[in-house]
Parts: sequence; structure tokens; C-alpha cells
Amino acid sequence: MAGAEFSIGALCLIVLLAYGTLHCVQGADSIPGLGINWGALASNPMDPNIVANMLKDNGIKKVKLFDADPWIVSAFSGDFEVMVGIPNDQLSKFAGSLGDAEDWVKENLTKHLHNGGVNIRYVAVGNEPFLTSYGDKYVKKTFPAMQNIQKAIDKAGHGEVKVTTALNADVYESQTNKPSDGDFRDNIRDVMKQIIQFLHEKKSPFLVNIYPFLSLYQSEGFPEDFAFFGTHSMTISDKNAQYSNVFDANLDTLAWALKKSGYSDIKIVVGEIGWPTDGNKNANVNNAKRFYQGFLKNMASKKGTPMLPGHMDAYLFSLFDENLKSIDPGNFERHWGIYRYDGKPKFPIDFSGKGEEKLPQSAKGVRYQEHKWCVLNADVKNMSLIPPALDYACAGADCTSLGYGCSCGNLGLAGNASFAFNQFFQTRDQSVEACDFNGLGSIVTQDPSKGTCLFPIELESNNGDMLTTMRIMASMLIGLSIFFITL
Ligand SMILES: *[C@@H]1O[C@H](CO)[C@@H](O)[C@H](O)[C@H]1NC(C)=O
Ligand SMILES: *[C@@H]1O[C@H](CO)[C@@H](O)[C@H](O)[C@H]1NC(C)=O
Ligand SMILES: *[C@@H]1O[C@H](CO)[C@@H](O)[C@H](O)[C@H]1NC(C)=O
Repeated sequence: MAGAEFSIGALCLIVLLAYGTLHCVQGADSIPGLGINWGALASNPMDPNIVANMLKDNGIKKVKLFDADPWIVSAFSGDFEVMVGIPNDQLSKFAGSLGDAEDWVKENLTKHLHNGGVNIRYVAVGNEPFLTSYGDKYVKKTFPAMQNIQKAIDKAGHGEVKVTTALNADVYESQTNKPSDGDFRDNIRDVMKQIIQFLHEKKSPFLVNIYPFLSLYQSEGFPEDFAFFGTHSMTISDKNAQYSNVFDANLDTLAWALKKSGYSDIKIVVGEIGWPTDGNKNANVNNAKRFYQGFLKNMASKKGTPMLPGHMDAYLFSLFDENLKSIDPGNFERHWGIYRYDGKPKFPIDFSGKGEEKLPQSAKGVRYQEHKWCVLNADVKNMSLIPPALDYACAGADCTSLGYGCSCGNLGLAGNASFAFNQFFQTRDQSVEACDFNGLGSIVTQDPSKGTCLFPIELESNNGDMLTTMRIMASMLIGLSIFFITL
């Protein structure tokens, strides 16, 4: 109950107030070749039908998913071109068994293709399986899993569906930073050769995730402008080419590596590209807006790079914030959304690449839980009671907006506690017990959000989605066990 639905009119008004001259245009066309990633590692993910309609409203026709949840896949029937994924933890199973691969194809491809009218074109087997931080974990499993899934696809007669794997740009490197010195990393060069041959033979694309944000985040002295497009404050000269942004240089490093392996005709598709908006001092709405604006204009211009002139295919990362993602890479990891968790856009972005200062279409028909928040009880005077409760709340909910330079970066101790209590309370579907905190918590009906710091209200749970229910139960169990341990 109490689902607050925001009409576009209301949102336009809010937007107008926030950004001045804007217009909400409907049904625009996006740049040809532009797609978007949707990862649903959120406590209450968006309803896939609402998401599908939102993408249609924005003229986006290509979507990339990280698994093959049937409820989600079936929402993208009709005009969409869909890429589904097989997560890394299943590589071993499919590498070892053609039978399992055949079952996967039957359940997750055949059903959708034949009866569901879903145009699944690609299967990404593994997601960044060769990431340096995973060590050798998936190095021997990925290619055999790709082969088995391909065999199963061929056997089922779905020749139009292509197998690939999503690789991070760390599979290649250049010792000199010049693209022409690019080559694949030593420890995976052999398996990369096999994969490249496979992609060549099947005419499948090489899927690569490139993150200028990480270039900036990972190296202290990285020249900030070089992470963005459109400035020439720094250039790399290489052969006859000039590079004025790290994206072009990075993509061409791959192009050179492929050329050296003898397969320069493989099509490269950018599997993920984007900029996060919170969780780090460089992750904010202004930088994200600047990055996307430059990237999309560049993509629309069909200029390409010195090695890869012309049209480019790319999937933006990502659609929504995901509050259950691992923060091993950094606190920004839960804030990659162009949209907030609830389908409201965070900043102006023009998917047509014309660089217009306008907010994209928001999600329509989103249902929220009640207008209630959990905050630190105003009567609490003894501040030393707060830290243990705060730690407990943050161990069981997302506190990544509280750090230095983040959207809720200067709330003070009491404000920190309120924010954390609310995050904990909302992700437990506003259960009264989840706002106890030994009597320190208190439920209020006035929005405690302040400035850039948003105190979210969780979306209504989608009862039809078993996965969501399981996710919430799992996080509650983890929360409970932490609670008992701390008792
Ligand atoms: C189909 O995909 C879903 C979601 O990725 C997965 O949980 C399920 O195990 C797959 N089915 C088979 C038979 O492998
Ligand atoms: C504040 O709480 C701490 C921890 O429970 C306790 O040790 C301390 O005596 C309290 N201080 C006051 C002034 O009540
Ligand atoms: C609030 O939390 C953030 C993130 O943990 C921390 O950096 C900051 O120091 C906290 N503020 C206070 C006053 O404890």
C-alpha cells in the first residue's frame, strides 16, 4: 500500500526547478549501437516491465543482463536486442558438462526465443573472469564453458545467437602506455589466443569493459582531464596518432593487441562504460554528467579512434544503483547508476548524443513503501552509545554514501547514525524491529534528506520475484547472525 507514484509531470517540475531550462521529450531515438547494462543486485530491484517501458521511452533498444533470470528476460520481448550472461560461479559447471550447457540453453534460450519473442543475440559466458584480482580462479574454466554453451546452441539450432565473454580492459596492457605497444597479459596470453580464434571463427564480438574512472581512481597522479573527452590538456603521441583521452588510448591498445595476434578483423564491442556518482571524491553527478556527455557526443560523431575509425557499439554501465554489490573494488561500486535505485535520473544525459541538457525519461508506475524513515532518536544524549549501533547498522546495510567527499559526507556522528539506521530499516522493508537499535532508533514521517544526501524509501517488494525474496531473506539472516555475534 501507500505506493507513491510520481507522474512525469511532477518529475519534470522537480527537474525544472533543479536544472532550469529543460524539456521532457518523449520517445527520442538513441545513438545507433548504444545499449545499456542492467544488473539487479539490489535489495528490491525494479520491476522489469517498468524498466522495459522506461528504455522504450528513451529509445534504447539494446540491453545487457548479467544472468538469465526468466522474469527479467521475458520483459524484453519485442523490439529489444538482448545479451544475457552466465555468472562466473557457473563456469566450472558448464566447462565440465555439455549436458548442463544443453539444459541451460533449453531453459534460458529456447524458451524465450521460440515462445517468448525475446530477441536474444548474445550470451556472455563469464563476467570479467580474468580480472587480475581473481588470480587464476577462472582462467582454465572460461573457454571450455564458452565452447560447451556454443555447442549446445548449435545443437538446438539457434545459429543466430553468439557466444562471447565479457572481459575487463586489464586483460591487455602496454608497458610504455603507447597503444601500439599493447599486448595481452602474460599469464593469460595462451587462453586469450584460443578465445580470439573462437570469436573470429564464430564472428562473435570481443566484449571489453573500459573505465576511465578507474584510471583516475587507481593512480594518484593521473591527469584528470585525460579521463574525459573534449580537452587537449594532455596527449599521447603514438606513431602518427594523437590521443587526447584515455578511452581512445585504451581501446586502441586492445586493437593493437588483436592485430599482433593476427586477428585485427574481430569486432570490438564496449561491454561496459560509465562513471559512478557516489562513494569516492571523483564519483559525483557533475563528473558523471561530463563524462557521459563527452562519450555520447563522441560516439554519435562516428569518429571512432585512430585504429578503429567509424561506428562503435557500446553498453553504458549502468542503469540503476545496486546496493548489494560487493564493495571490494571500492565504495563507488554501488553507485554506477545513471538512474537512482528507483528509476529517477540523477543528471541530464542525452542518449541521442546531441548533447542536449535534458533529463532522460524516468521510470513510470514505480511503487514505494510507506513514507517512513528510521533515524537516531533525538532524546539520545550519551554519544558513546552511538558507535556500536552505527557499526551494526552499517554491517547490515549500505553506508557507502557516508565517506569523505560523498553525497552524505559531512553529517556528523548523529547524522551518520540516522543515515545508517534508515538504510538498515528500509532494506528490511520497514519492519518495526529493524528500527530498534536498543532504543536508539525512532521512526519518523518527515523526510530527513538534506542537500545532496538522500534518505531513500525502499521500493515495494515484487512478490512475484523469488530471487528478491531470497536475497532479502539472506541479507536478514546475515544481519541477524551479526546481531547475535555482537550480543
Ligand atoms: C537459467 O538461468 C538462471 C539465471 O541465470 C539460472 O539460475 C538457471 O540455473 C539456468 N538454468 C539452467 C538449467 O542452467
Ligand atoms: C554513556 O554510555 C556508556 C556506555 O553504555 C556508559 O559507560 C556511560 O556511563 C554513559 N555515560 C553517561 C553520562 O550516562
Ligand atoms: C561518519 O561516517 C564516515 C564514514 O564512515 C566517517 O568518515 C566520518 O568520520 C563519520 N563522522 C563522524 C562525526 O563520526
